[in-house]
Amino acid sequence: KLATLPSALVLAQAPWKTIASPGKGILAMDESNATCGKRLEGIGLENTVENRQTYRELLVTTPGLGEYISGAIMFEETLFQDTRKGTKMTEELKKQGIVPGIKVDKGCAGLDGLDVRCGEYYRAGARFAKWRSVVSIPSGPTPLAVRDCAYGLARYAALAQSAGLVPIVEPEILLDGEHDIDRTLEVASAVWAETFKYLADNNVLFEGILLKPSMVTPGADSGNPAAPEVVADYTLRLLRRRVPPAVPGIMFLSGGQSELEATLNLNAMNQSPNPWHVSFSYARALQNSVLRTWKGEEANFEAAQKALIKRAAANSTAQRGQYDP
Ligand code: 13P
Repeated sequence: KLATLPSALVLAQAPWKTIASPGKGILAMDESNATCGKRLEGIGLENTVENRQTYRELLVTTPGLGEYISGAIMFEETLFQDTRKGTKMTEELKKQGIVPGIKVDKGCAGLDGLDVRCGEYYRAGARFAKWRSVVSIPSGPTPLAVRDCAYGLARYAALAQSAGLVPIVEPEILLDGEHDIDRTLEVASAVWAETFKYLADNNVLFEGILLKPSMVTPGADSGNPAAPEVVADYTLRLLRRRVPPAVPGIMFLSGGQSELEATLNLNAMNQSPNPWHVSFSYARALQNSVLRTWKGEEANFEAAQKALIKRAAANSTAQRGQYDP
């Protein structure tokens, strides 16, 4: 049996409360080296350690970021990396009051030895973790795929919590497919039901986790995109049916939505009070225009940081339900 409950120290610090605080969300900058390479390739840069370092430095040293961003999820390389001027990336975040986080899944694997890795990540300054498990609608999902996703997430959450890291639980239901929004709701309902069953079986403390769901939308190829009010209606219906109010925060992924769509959908979900902090943990919807502005050129560094602030501020306003494009 796992010793799953977090220590008194972690409970007293309650980093999940810092992360899920009004007007704030998470910057997901935890692209694996392969995915980061694709982003860099998109602006004509080679996928080298130096280019990844410069890009991540651009993100973490953005002046004023801490006003809108409460946590940043990093890939392992960045957690242990310095900026070009020799400061630790984690220190740059902490200076702005941003809690450092770490992606701990290794694609579809990573439970073996996770307890040891979590200890190392904690010592390196991480205070929260993320595990992403992917579910595809067009290829099923079979009951076995749903159970596997849920069980892996629950085991990870228990291990992370007992190591003092706040677990972000992310079953990503991919947007790909021609299905309608009702089918997405059906699949998401099954996934969250199993996830909470296994979280409970593993004695995970619900007050100390954060969720990272996909919004409930029609499949990307349905030819019938939904308005923000519809996405909000379906997504909140799912959450109310499946997520206990003990969970402090729901930090959505953007999943390939445009920057504006992701902001409008979040804003629509915050038009009425929710039992949880409903916010963002976006990667692409915070970084797309940053990359386009930067283009790998030193001269564009500041302009790219301003582009990040623009998206972060817009999503902060959407977290409060006050976004007006
Ligand atoms: P997107 O916001 O680009 O979907 O990425 C979030 C994330 O962390 C996926 O795991």
